[in-house]
Amino acid sequence: MSNQPFGTSSLGSGLPQQRIGAAAPQCGNKAPREKKDELRLLVNSHHPLITIETSEESRVEELLSEVACEMGVVFYTWSVTTGLARSGGSPIYHTGDPEQALANLALLKDEAIFLLKDFARYCEQDRICRRVRELAESFRTARRSIVISGASLRLPPEIEADAAPFYFSLPDANELLPAVKEALADASRTNRIPLSLDAALIAQLARNLVGLPLEEAVRTLEMCLLKRGRGDTSLLTDVLEAKRRTLRQEGLLEAVRRDASFNDVAGLARLREWVRKRKSALTPEGREFGLEPPKGVLITGVQVCGKSLAARAVAGEWAYELARLDAGSLYDKFIGESERKFRQALELAQKLSPLVLWIDEIEKAFASASAGSDADAGLSQRLLATMLTWMQDRVSGVFLAATSNNISSLPPEMLRKGRFDEIFFVDLPNEPVRELLFALHLKKRGRESAGFDLKQLAQTSEGFSGAEIEQSIVSGLYTAFSQKRQLSTEILVAEIRGTQPLSVTRAEEIAALREWAKSRAVPADSVALESYRFPAGGPTAC
Ligand SMILES: Nc1ncnc2c1ncn2[C@@H]1O[C@H](COP(=O)(O)OP(=O)(O)O)[C@@H](O)[C@H]1O
Ligand SMILES: [Mg+2]
Repeated sequence: MSNQPFGTSSLGSGLPQQRIGAAAPQCGNKAPREKKDELRLLVNSHHPLITIETSEESRVEELLSEVACEMGVVFYTWSVTTGLARSGGSPIYHTGDPEQALANLALLKDEAIFLLKDFARYCEQDRICRRVRELAESFRTARRSIVISGASLRLPPEIEADAAPFYFSLPDANELLPAVKEALADASRTNRIPLSLDAALIAQLARNLVGLPLEEAVRTLEMCLLKRGRGDTSLLTDVLEAKRRTLRQEGLLEAVRRDASFNDVAGLARLREWVRKRKSALTPEGREFGLEPPKGVLITGVQVCGKSLAARAVAGEWAYELARLDAGSLYDKFIGESERKFRQALELAQKLSPLVLWIDEIEKAFASASAGSDADAGLSQRLLATMLTWMQDRVSGVFLAATSNNISSLPPEMLRKGRFDEIFFVDLPNEPVRELLFALHLKKRGRESAGFDLKQLAQTSEGFSGAEIEQSIVSGLYTAFSQKRQLSTEILVAEIRGTQPLSVTRAEEIAALREWAKSRAVPADSVALESYRFPAGGPTAC
């Protein structure tokens, strides 16, 4: 790729030339530097067609206009309503028609960036498709690039093959900050909303809005300000809540309220200790000391024994944001859409960092990647490849907490050393943990455990999972209420005796899970350690 320094070629436009690295204050500096460098590289290396998939048209326009200015090339925009126009100039007559616009574009001899808004839809037409390809061919030797933008780009394969996709990410906190300040100042001026936020809190406000496109972030902030009627610390939680609602609607990543910590989890002592220890790696002191930031765990094991709960608890323990990636929702009937959605979700996760990215029942997304021949396998394999690359390359700040009910159906690449920091196996709770489970869930329902014989309850509930113990309390409360009595050990024992636990009905399945885990996973609960053989080197020291 030629990396021609900007300003050294002959300029058809007559615009002032820039020296490499020279500051160009007149060009504006709203767009992030690294994005501008990336784009400049594409244009300088003679990419005739660039695609940018985004709904943030004004940010794209700003970015391209700043890049064009810094490079000393002309910037043209086109839309079906305005036609083709040079930046700051009037539209060229009759160029609203897409084909006519391309014909005019072919006649322009400037080194230039041409932004064609929402142009993908016209490329389906034979003549337009052909013209775009011809133009692309003739642009290959010059710094002339056509940029096609749109919220959802689907191009004919002939054009797609020629196009370089440019990933236009959501704004980070630094980019949002000026807009946040402006919105606050505006609210104070126009609506006389009192403000009591210092610089640090305003910066936090901008961070809380990360994950939303610029205009949406500003709208969200304005709405929260108007609703609250003042700009104080409560505004920080308001915008966070509003952002979670928006992300939920989008359906890519569900920002979940942190509702659990390890105080809500009985047992799983080894997993809990592992997570607690890794917290120090997240502090500046820990990093300075050389602690590797943790990347992710996979929690597998017997059903309804607290895998999902534990994954959520990691966020509570570290005070990280929590977002769930619904593996099932990734699949889309359009080829390419699923990968795009997945890439967007991972990018969003990075933006929201520090974040615990929770993928529940991860086998649902990737199981068919290992199956080989069925229709889904190809897509599943590509998603898996994206996932593995991300797991390998991502910078710290996003911790992956994945759970799986059926780990043996996961593709082996995913379980290879180095992908997850650790694989934990959650087994049925043993007697002391069952005692804790009764105490915990009784307390959650406003009952003091001192009034119950926890030992007897734990002994009677051999083979019960956490959820089944919780359920026995829920049913016991109904029984007690209908008999106009208080909940008692006796009622609970009767509930337990009347229940057939999953471990009996699914004994074979559980035995197979345990067998699988023996050599591949670390027990999440240290109490059950004796029953495991560890792989060479022993369990991870905690
Ligand atoms: N170890 C545990 N500690 C506390 N509660 C538990 C535990 N295991 C299960 N539960 C209860 O059962 C519910 C279901 O557990 P969940 O985490 O969804 O199980 P899994 O993901 O393993 O299938 C939890 O929300 C919690 O109320
Ligand atoms: Mg679960």
